[in-house]
Amino acid sequence: MICKKVSLSAIWILLLSTNILAQSDSIPVQDMQWQTFNTYKDVDYNQTLRPQFHFSSLKNWINDPNGMVYYNGEYHLYFQHNPVGIKWGNMTWGHAVSADMVHWKQLPHAILPYGKSTIFSGSAVVDEQNVLGKQVGKTKTIVAIYTAWGNGQSGAYSTDKGRSFLLLNNGGPIVKPTGINKGERDPSIFWHEASKKWIMVLWIKRAAKEGSAADKMGKVRIFTSHNLTDWTMASDFDREWVYECMNLIELPVDGNKKNKKWVVFDAGFHYEIGDFDGKTLTTDSIKLQGDFGKNYYAAQTFNNSPDGRKVLIGWMNGSNGAHEKEGMPFSGQFSFPSKLDLKNTKEGIRLFRWPIKEIEALYTKSYQFKNLHLDKATEKLAPIKAALIDFSIEFEPTDSIKLTLRGLEMSYNKSLGAFAYNSVMIPAPIRENGKVSLRVLIDRSSIELFANEGASVASFFGVPKADELGMSISGNGNTKITSLVVHELKSVWQ
Ligand code: FRU
Repeated sequence: MICKKVSLSAIWILLLSTNILAQSDSIPVQDMQWQTFNTYKDVDYNQTLRPQFHFSSLKNWINDPNGMVYYNGEYHLYFQHNPVGIKWGNMTWGHAVSADMVHWKQLPHAILPYGKSTIFSGSAVVDEQNVLGKQVGKTKTIVAIYTAWGNGQSGAYSTDKGRSFLLLNNGGPIVKPTGINKGERDPSIFWHEASKKWIMVLWIKRAAKEGSAADKMGKVRIFTSHNLTDWTMASDFDREWVYECMNLIELPVDGNKKNKKWVVFDAGFHYEIGDFDGKTLTTDSIKLQGDFGKNYYAAQTFNNSPDGRKVLIGWMNGSNGAHEKEGMPFSGQFSFPSKLDLKNTKEGIRLFRWPIKEIEALYTKSYQFKNLHLDKATEKLAPIKAALIDFSIEFEPTDSIKLTLRGLEMSYNKSLGAFAYNSVMIPAPIRENGKVSLRVLIDRSSIELFANEGASVASFFGVPKADELGMSISGNGNTKITSLVVHELKSVWQ
């Protein structure tokens, strides 16, 4: 964190004495009134709706994950944060670190509002080649590029492993505003090995009258850079569906590293699959849906992942201030990190999503049953009680069935070939092996459903019944359940 020049001489002296400013020509202009993190120590992780294996801020509002990047044993999760309130506002980059993407430690807010700008969404990379020329010693520089609201895309860099940031270009834009409805935002940057360039994808509003229907629409503008500061426009990817927080990622198809495809997705997790040559993105123009639930938004993946996995975290939005209404000290939570894969299916190549294997470290008790009829399965489940649950079922869909987990009801509808939760359909056509499957993660205020091994995913805000720790299956007693697995989880905050 860095501070405003005016009237904060004590902090200046402190920063100079710790040599934070001395190493840089940037003028620190961030406003320390937003550095409220020292008040967060009064809060713990044990409230009724506090997620126990999902990230939430100790205090106050969060929305989009930002700047997700791995460096030197740490996954960094920055996020849209109101440092002084439980509603959206005063956008600041909050910060947390983790060694496994599951156990998080929240740290002081990383990038504070400055000048006339609050700090909107963006991304971060590790400057491996020191193209910025800011590296101190052996520690690589972490570079964050974000929307300085109302003033284009700006950047900041950290020479202390992502803890504190200095402003690039004095906080001024490195990509100037287009002047179209002040709309463009959420730069997502990554290294493109084939062209040896940095790439930025940016959501741009169309020129439309503010407030009109077309005002919501946008397109994706692609820029390239050799030094992270000078950006040249390369092309536009023009689609009516794109809205905010664009991402462009490359994934092998069926694990084949010689056959890779690119996935472009927006905040609502609509996506298309195609090819990217370092300048232009070409797709088959088939718009697909990455999450069917009511509460999934603005997801992004980690840059610089140590094992090549593309791990996605989204904001579980749209809960209507439910945490705040229930008197929680925080508002908002993130999805459980999940790995993305592209797989060939009968319909073509599709995105699959699956909770990361690190969840296994949270299992306290596990129960596994194979090949039993539904009536027997219910009997087996009857004695199992768990507050935090990772539940999986695979069955032959000869009939519709209903599952009740901690009072939350979901069903499989045979004629629709879909699961349903909270009136939302989650497609699950019969697989080649004649079965369908569902995995469900239940925390204190969320439920995430992964159908057919992650072919369809749906994320929801949801509160299990406080006095109900059981689970049951109902339907035709003869329905064949080929696999039933229940894991009870422990809290990551213990
Ligand atoms: C998406 C979004 C972004 C913006 C941020 C502001 O939720 O609207 O487009 O950068 O939130 O908090």
